[in-house]
Amino acid sequence: MSSVSYDEQSRTWLLRTPNSAYGLGVSADGTSVRHLHWGGPIGQADLRALAAEAPDDTAVRVAWGEEDPAEFTAWGGLRYDEPSLKVDFADGTRAIEWRYHGHRIAEEDGGRTLTVELRDRSYPLGAELCYRIFDDSDVIERWARLRHLGDDGPIVVRQAYSANWCLPRDQAWRLRYLQGGHLVETQLTETALRPGKFVLESRRGITSHQANPWFALDRAGTATEEAGEVWSGALAWSGSWKLVVELTPAGNLHVTGGYNEFDSPFTLAPGAELVLPVFAGMYGNHGMVGVSREWHAYQLGHVLGSPSQRPPLRPVLYNSWEATYFNVDERSQTRLAELAAEMGVELFVVDDGWFTGRASDRAGLGDWVADPVKFPRGLDPLIERVEKLGMRFGLWVEPEMVNADSMLYRDHPDWVYHFPNRRRTEKRNQLVLNLGRPDVAEWVHASIDRLVSEHPISFLKWDMNRHISEAGWPAETGRNPERAWIDHTRHLYEILDRLRADHPGLEIESCSGGGGRVDLGILSRAEQTWPSDNTDASDRIAIQDGYAHAYAPITMTCWVTDSPNPITGRRLPLPYRFHVAMAGALGIGGDLLAWPEGERAAAADLVAAYKAIRPLVQYGRLYRLASLRDGTVAASQYLADDGAELAVLAWWRPRSFGVWAGRLRLAGLDAAARYQDAATGEVYGGGLLMHSGLPLPTGLEYDSMLVHLIRV
Ligand code: DGJ
Repeated sequence: MSSVSYDEQSRTWLLRTPNSAYGLGVSADGTSVRHLHWGGPIGQADLRALAAEAPDDTAVRVAWGEEDPAEFTAWGGLRYDEPSLKVDFADGTRAIEWRYHGHRIAEEDGGRTLTVELRDRSYPLGAELCYRIFDDSDVIERWARLRHLGDDGPIVVRQAYSANWCLPRDQAWRLRYLQGGHLVETQLTETALRPGKFVLESRRGITSHQANPWFALDRAGTATEEAGEVWSGALAWSGSWKLVVELTPAGNLHVTGGYNEFDSPFTLAPGAELVLPVFAGMYGNHGMVGVSREWHAYQLGHVLGSPSQRPPLRPVLYNSWEATYFNVDERSQTRLAELAAEMGVELFVVDDGWFTGRASDRAGLGDWVADPVKFPRGLDPLIERVEKLGMRFGLWVEPEMVNADSMLYRDHPDWVYHFPNRRRTEKRNQLVLNLGRPDVAEWVHASIDRLVSEHPISFLKWDMNRHISEAGWPAETGRNPERAWIDHTRHLYEILDRLRADHPGLEIESCSGGGGRVDLGILSRAEQTWPSDNTDASDRIAIQDGYAHAYAPITMTCWVTDSPNPITGRRLPLPYRFHVAMAGALGIGGDLLAWPEGERAAAADLVAAYKAIRPLVQYGRLYRLASLRDGTVAASQYLADDGAELAVLAWWRPRSFGVWAGRLRLAGLDAAARYQDAATGEVYGGGLLMHSGLPLPTGLEYDSMLVHLIRV
């Protein structure tokens, strides 16, 4: 059970989740909302005692701006830590002075919410600090709503972060985060924090391959995989974002973040409001994997599905990209579909290359009609064939983009981001449509809506193959054209929300040249994401491991592709490629026409084996049993909620001769129960599996293993 309570006497609020507590209170002078506690469970009396403590232990420190931790820091006065909010009022005043205005506690949107309202003492600016908690989760959702409460003169918002997460005072911390690049996304990285600032951000208009808006912090070196306190956060925003992790010399650590303010002033007109994206956070005391599991459960219950209805299991999909690239036509796709169906594929996705003029990446983007040469009978005969084969049909689109060589660009050269007298920088021969423009957003919606209305398409792979540059909007000069940085993503969300509402059952895969758009914001309107264009199973282990630190395996599309891999040239055994891809939502992306019959038959068996463990991988509890950071074998375990069934996947990397991995100790089982291997019939005691371990085969180079155990 969770609860939100208010103590009138101390003017404090206590948010209780199943395993954590969060406390805040109005400062004695009513000018700010103090942060009082985020960590293990405490009671209302404890919080009252915390609130009664003086704001800071040395008056000298306060005088120099080493202020007490605050829930939403406004710039102004003696405050020099990273602010949550900075604005310009119409008369040139730039400092904010808050006064506490009131609060509301409510049951809404499936959770309990607390809204604390602040108002500027003299100017018509209001801020609502919003918190939402759930009965079944330790995740606290936070965001803020800014309001222009007057009828005169705009307020320019220079910096507005969704939430300020304050951690207990301590001097040494470890930060874990996800960084990378194209083909090497979501690399789990750690750094020791010392006084100073550590900034993670994207200024690219999308989430980015380079950094992901997620963090995990523990007191230096105290959290292991399964034990220890961890504070973690994730931002629900797919545009430019920023997280500032600041440790002051006095040992105050806070993480604040939200929209990236770079080049992004946002003008708030009289009466208007700006709702900042959710910045979710959670405290756990079951180590790093405990935090990952909590994020996964939260996403299953509150982002992708609801507590009463989990998201449906992801189908095994086939994707044509690495098989046919741009050489898509009815014949090649029909043949691929037939082979895919024989292997047990449930969703057949035609990737790039299907639309008018799309012979290469140089032309066609924007013209979302099937190419008459490649599909002289249109898309429907192929879709019908796919459905007859027992599969659903999906299609690739990249709606935010245009090639200069397209009908769309010839008709609307002004629809792309650009500045007068500046080049329109192309990447992959394409330009970005200014989705901040309502007319462009409307057109994008209409063209994709037409596509899914005219054809029985139940899945869209929504790609975005470049970042935004020259984000100009000349027609709006002087009227806050910079708001397009924010409105691009808001309009994208609106388009996806509308399409999904109007076409029930339409599923989305978020892709951005691989893993450039993976975050909590897109996950509330996309069933799955494409984590990387790197499909080499060996490289993929680290990408998927980092991904699953923050995001649920059910959302992680993983293809089995050809050997040698088209990108890295590495040759890997078929079972290894499958076993690595089984760690998420399995797909196949190879050129099946070139796979020998024996391999296709083996692949069909592996697909069947995956289907048997699919609910465990997609809904189960993750245990990271072994990591390539520590040795030559990586292994993950997926345990059913009721503990009755589990799957173990293990993958070897090249190993030196004579290195023996020994046994793999499983976790979370019933020591007194017995578990049977579904393939061999062998029965093991739970105690033995946990404390001695599952015997590992010698493990040759790029060996792998799937074990499915069922409690007997
Ligand atoms: C980038 C994606 O990540 C690939 O999977 C593929 O869809 C290409 N774009 C198509 O252009």
